[in-house]
Amino acid sequence: METTRFQFANNTPLSLSPNFILPEENRPILSEVFSSASIPSIDLNNHDIDDLVSKISQACEKFGFFQIINHGVPKELSQRVLAVVTEFFQLPPEERAQFLTTDHSKRVKVFNYYQKVEGQGKVLMWGETFTHPWHPTEDFTHFLPKNPPQYREIGALMDKLLSLMSQGLGLEKDCLKRKIGERPAIYTQANYYPPCPDPELTMGLQAHNDISALVVLLQMEGVSGLQVVIDGKWVAVEPVPDAFVVNIADQIEVLSNGRYKSVLHRAVSNKRLARLSLPMFYAPNNDTVIGPIEDLIDEVHPPMYRNYSYKEYMDEFYRQEGARRRVKEAFQLQH
Ligand code: OGA
Ligand code: NI
Repeated sequence: METTRFQFANNTPLSLSPNFILPEENRPILSEVFSSASIPSIDLNNHDIDDLVSKISQACEKFGFFQIINHGVPKELSQRVLAVVTEFFQLPPEERAQFLTTDHSKRVKVFNYYQKVEGQGKVLMWGETFTHPWHPTEDFTHFLPKNPPQYREIGALMDKLLSLMSQGLGLEKDCLKRKIGERPAIYTQANYYPPCPDPELTMGLQAHNDISALVVLLQMEGVSGLQVVIDGKWVAVEPVPDAFVVNIADQIEVLSNGRYKSVLHRAVSNKRLARLSLPMFYAPNNDTVIGPIEDLIDEVHPPMYRNYSYKEYMDEFYRQEGARRRVKEAFQLQH
């Protein structure tokens, strides 16, 4: 059964078999997608900190998405990682099948996303995902080489973003990081979207909100696929050379009491080219209690979400598997 779910052989062209074809109402309408001019690219090497904080907080409030340039991670490193991961996806499928599982507790795994469609059962997304823990947490960062200094940059980058976002909310620099907790789960996903004979009939990754706290995504240059909702319209986030895409995920939306937005996004496939993306997720661990930060609650801004443990949140996430997940709604308070 698992091997039939595991569709992507490395032979091309791949055929779009019926179990990938979405019902009409769930398909992307690519002619109605806008270009990404509105999503800001922010220079992290801006020494005017107030200006940087204000650019980042505006982007978090308006779009929940932005790109960063001059982020300190060397281009060669990003390119090497993308090359290695591409190679992994081009191995014969049997090689990847050893990581194939539907067991949520497995930390290193390969899987396909799917949508449950009435009358049709599971419809697979046109993509394959590999996930595993990534940047070492504090516990073992100190075992890593000090040289070259960039070795620790991704973790440092997450910290920097959290600090700027905290300041943007008028909080202490370390506030968001402290709230997300001492032992964050930092893991990566590699999404591989093979060329698709007809991208209009299927989806690379269905519309979703990220459930973690913060996401930094590395995408291949030259192939577009990521799209986000802005003012009710789908907008493409075109790859910017040597940039990372940053997005607010649900836990920061909740902590910020709704000021920073965790926005709906999806990935579509491309007719001619394979596309690879590498989102790096920064999330609380299961025991951490998340809820709106008290300093952000007052009479005008009553709490928009109740407090919960991240474990509860994950349980709700898995409960909604296969559906268009609406996890944060389940924790919303009505006023
Ligand atoms: C994700 C995601 C988008 C992409 O993995 O959560 O949104 O471009 N990926 O692959
Ligand atoms: Ni996502």
